Amino acid sequence: MIRLSVITGVLLISMSALLKAQQGAPSWAEESAARKEARMSWWTHDRFGMFIHWGIYALPGRHEWVKRNEHISDEAYAKYFEHFDPDLYNPVEWAAKARAAGMKYVVVTTKHHDGFCLWDSKVTDYKVTNTPYGKDLIAMLVKAFRDEGIRVGFYYSLIDWHHPDFTVDRIHPAWTGDMEKVASLNAPRNMERYRKYMREQLTELLTSYGQIDELFLDFSYPGANGKGNEDWGAEELLKLIRKLQPQIIVDNRLDLDDKDWGWDFVTPEQFMPQEWPTVRGKRVPWETCQTFSGSWGYYRDEYSWKSVHQLIVMLIETVSKGGNLLLNVGPTARGVFDERAVERLDGIADWMKFHSRSIYGCTQAPEEFKVPQNSLLTYNPETKRLYIHVLEWPFKSLHLPGYRGKIKYAQLLNDGSELRYTTNTTPGGSTTENSGAEDVILSLPVRKPGGEVPVIEIFLE
Ligand code: GLC
Repeated sequence: MIRLSVITGVLLISMSALLKAQQGAPSWAEESAARKEARMSWWTHDRFGMFIHWGIYALPGRHEWVKRNEHISDEAYAKYFEHFDPDLYNPVEWAAKARAAGMKYVVVTTKHHDGFCLWDSKVTDYKVTNTPYGKDLIAMLVKAFRDEGIRVGFYYSLIDWHHPDFTVDRIHPAWTGDMEKVASLNAPRNMERYRKYMREQLTELLTSYGQIDELFLDFSYPGANGKGNEDWGAEELLKLIRKLQPQIIVDNRLDLDDKDWGWDFVTPEQFMPQEWPTVRGKRVPWETCQTFSGSWGYYRDEYSWKSVHQLIVMLIETVSKGGNLLLNVGPTARGVFDERAVERLDGIADWMKFHSRSIYGCTQAPEEFKVPQNSLLTYNPETKRLYIHVLEWPFKSLHLPGYRGKIKYAQLLNDGSELRYTTNTTPGGSTTENSGAEDVILSLPVRKPGGEVPVIEIFLE
């Protein structure tokens, strides 16, 4: 009897150990929640970054997927490589624009799906140093942005439509759906060699340019004729990345979503979540990447550009739900931000100059603060200040439901001018009919104050 229960006990213990090992992180990926939070603290503080999609697709100027969208052969696509010469490229200007717009980090495409490399990679000829331009674009960019105090992150495409070992799949430009043709195209291709190529390239990127703060790997499409974590050798890749740059923050596109240790943040793309995204019931760090006009690479004839107002609201809304915004610029083939991008960046800069306090270090407001009409709230837990972003300027007063006793002081953020307030009476003194005893009424100037979106800063009790 005793023997039996000992055996059962041993069995139970070893079974639970097995289960734990299966669910738990491999030793190289072990990290406490507190350490992860500390590792990511600059990122959750800074909130706003610049994405840059640049490559030889800037020459056709019709989307960074042009090779696939128009099923362009390698031979036909070569003309863009042969003519790539961004003579006006001056990343010092880019970095100055980013800083003025309040962007605290940059994530630049080192290689996009077309396989073209913007740095002087030793393991391929398909790189910028072999184009007429001839210089390492990444090295110059890294220096310029760091000099402006902006952190540097890299985008690296897992997909590669140029590499001879990358198998043709359903999103490859050579895909026709004719499975016999696909099989014959794939016969000489060897993903094992491609995985080695990726490891070598990531090693170059993560050892040649100093500290890299974010890595944006793109992207997985598992399932029939797609590619997922096994195709990338995702675990091995992530292990290498963590070894080379232990502090780096990695996105969730390696197809390791079911593992808590397989990613640092989620990446809603060109999409605003309804609320703070959760994974397995827990709120997670998130960064939405967004474009000015729809495509990521320079697109000359695209006319769906968002307004400055829309972009500012997008930034505020992101922070109001606890997220980061990575806003993309697609420079031209001459190497500049085109005038439509400059206009947007300058507009954001005008607003950020006076309002960045409601963005940096801010997050979703605690639930006890109801969102006033036509507004978005952010909150700084360190300074205990609440920010009301007023999207439609009301006439003379703003009703704050349930705020009584919670406000120490209130001011407009653009000029630091006091906003007086009363509880359940109008500024003139008469009781309003539809405000409760717990409510506060802020007295506002009739004219909308300066800036696209006025912000009210509340010092909480
Ligand atoms: C998508 C697209 C790509 C873009 C990326 C940005 O995955 O394939 O062109 O670089 O999103 O998040």
